[in-house]
Amino acid sequence: MSAVHPFRSLGAAVIGSGFIGPAHVEALRRLGVPVRGILGSRPERSRQAADALGLERGYESLDALLADPRVQVVHVASPNHLHFSQAKAALEAGKHVLCEKPLAMTPSETAELVRLAAERPAQAAGVCFNIRYYPLNLEAATRLRDGALGRVFAVNGSYVQDWLLYETDYNWRVLAEQAGPLRAVADIGAHWLDLVHAVTGLTVESVCADLATVHPVRLRPKGEVETFSGAAARDTEPVAVSTEDYGAVLLRFAGGACGAFHVSQVTAGRKNRLCYEIAAEKGALAWDSERPNELWQGARESANQLLLKDPSLLSPAVRPFANYPGGHNEGFPDAFKQLFRAFYSAVAEQRPLPASFPGFADGHDEALLCAAILLSARERRWVDLAGIAV
Ligand SMILES: NC(=O)c1ccc[n+]([C@@H]2O[C@H](COP(=O)([O-])OP(=O)(O)OC[C@H]3O[C@@H](n4cnc5c(N)ncnc54)[C@H](O)[C@@H]3O)[C@@H](O)[C@H]2O)c1
Repeated sequence: MSAVHPFRSLGAAVIGSGFIGPAHVEALRRLGVPVRGILGSRPERSRQAADALGLERGYESLDALLADPRVQVVHVASPNHLHFSQAKAALEAGKHVLCEKPLAMTPSETAELVRLAAERPAQAAGVCFNIRYYPLNLEAATRLRDGALGRVFAVNGSYVQDWLLYETDYNWRVLAEQAGPLRAVADIGAHWLDLVHAVTGLTVESVCADLATVHPVRLRPKGEVETFSGAAARDTEPVAVSTEDYGAVLLRFAGGACGAFHVSQVTAGRKNRLCYEIAAEKGALAWDSERPNELWQGARESANQLLLKDPSLLSPAVRPFANYPGGHNEGFPDAFKQLFRAFYSAVAEQRPLPASFPGFADGHDEALLCAAILLSARERRWVDLAGIAV
């Protein structure tokens, strides 16, 4: 008799049918998780998305999704301002929740979600910080944790894109009421901050930020625009934008390490590039999402090395997260698959998420960091995380 697949008895539903919701569906299918249906902004959009993705159900409403007894796990992949209410409702309906970043828009919302999740330890509650799950980021984290590089002195890097370069580029993310008062920092900088925390184990203690809005007015197409849809705008209206296109942030970590990163959504030619460089006692490490299958290792007294993603060259604990042989690139969709596998394995085995998994507490930490960065930029001064009120 053949063994039953560990995820076959589970069921998932995805909220959000734009850019990343369908990416969730694809990664779930690769893992053998049955996807029961999808919810869009309106019933007809749910139906269209279900048809396009070959899913059984396009839900009428959030209530219909939460009432589906075949759904144990809810993926929240809607615009940011909906995360709090949708994640809360899903937890209260007894579901496991995997929420896209940011977990919610303010520290008080994220604190409330952390509290609700803590009251329900049998329900898994995670945040989709997928970049942690590139094999070479897991390898970098393992090497630093094992002490191979000694004490970390400094971490620098950036997350840079170009899709909002022109004033005619528009997405709900530019509006503070839909995405939060920080844009580039909260949308992509949060990935950088989370990744650096996951890789180095360091925690930011204080920040000093400078933010700039290149386009204080953008031209908004009439009607809904999904991310990276590439739809040409025919009929537009001007809309005032207060969120930043660019940000630069100095960091101080607990223990004395320092760092700096910048974010931009207006750098031509940089489609989606996150990079970091870590300076430590016995060497340096650098990773670049445009070349995700290479980890640069800097040395003072020998030649620098380039580690290629090859399961046979990775630490034993990291090997299961690289599913193709060396020379066969793994990238963005694979990182989702690995994150989901970690999440669903815990759910299927009815055990807590591993400590290395981004949980709601990590989502709350990001909200606190964003609040500190915003305050620092507004008041043009260093801000300690310890002073941020929830
Ligand atoms: N982890 C990552 O790498 C990653 C990448 C992209 C986006 N995201 C996050 O995912 C979320 C969605 O981003 P996106 O780029 O897919 O945006 P998008 O605009 O392309 O898609 C959002 C979808 O939500 C739907 N929606 C709107 N209101 C809704 C409602 N009330 N109920 C259900 N669905 C509703 C819209 O119809 C749309 O299909 C954001 O929070 C974003 O930060 C994460």
